[in-house]
Amino acid sequence: MSAPYLIAGNWKMHKSITDARAFLKHFLPQLKELPASVQLALCPQNAALSEMVQAWGNIGKDVSERLAFGTQNTHWAESGAFTGELAPQLAKELGATYAIIGHSERRQFFGESNETAADRAKAALAADLTPIFCVGENLSARESDNTEAVLRAQLGALFATVAETPERFVIAYEPVWAIGTGKTATAEQAESAHAFIREFCSEHWNADFCAKLQILYGGSVKPANAKELLSCPNVNGALVGGASLEPDQFAAIAAAAN
Ligand code: PGA
Repeated sequence: MSAPYLIAGNWKMHKSITDARAFLKHFLPQLKELPASVQLALCPQNAALSEMVQAWGNIGKDVSERLAFGTQNTHWAESGAFTGELAPQLAKELGATYAIIGHSERRQFFGESNETAADRAKAALAADLTPIFCVGENLSARESDNTEAVLRAQLGALFATVAETPERFVIAYEPVWAIGTGKTATAEQAESAHAFIREFCSEHWNADFCAKLQILYGGSVKPANAKELLSCPNVNGALVGGASLEPDQFAAIAAAAN
């Protein structure tokens, strides 16, 4: 049996608390129409997280368990002198279920390495969060046929650090050249990378766990391309940036996961 779909929104550094509340209000009626089997998550800026969790608890009521929340990053230490970082346990206290880890923007702009991303994933697991661990090649790696070598290095560092099969984990394949560019991997490119990731994971982690591991595709997912990408056998959901900012678009992508 394969994994249920997970559609996660990465809001990056967008939306005030007022915007976030307005999104939830608009999204609620649409959520009721979505297939019950689809899991949903939103990852706002850290400072808006507990506000959103509370607002959702109040307006969502009967459907609140259909939508979970996550952070966009958490630190590898439990606590300490790390100015500007978020401790995983505090993220949990704020109401996060998920933590996006190793997003390519963190790798590109904030010096995230394969090793620090792996350490963050380990600490997130210890705090009872589910990492959404991002991997993906840049354009030059894609063009020089090095996609699998990059994935191998990124995931290799993860397996060196999280050696035992975790209880819960999500991987997001996000080709860097497709993020925020309007370019999307073709269904064939996505399926091939996802199949490789699943296979590589099952060389290190329990095979049954890996068969059900949610591997999300990310990179310019829109309502227009969601169906095709989500119908690939190894694509178990999407990590959505730009299109997750609009409740109608986010709902339309989730509706395609069927
Ligand atoms: P995008 O972002 O959907 O805007 O390309 C995806 C991501 O960065 O997770």
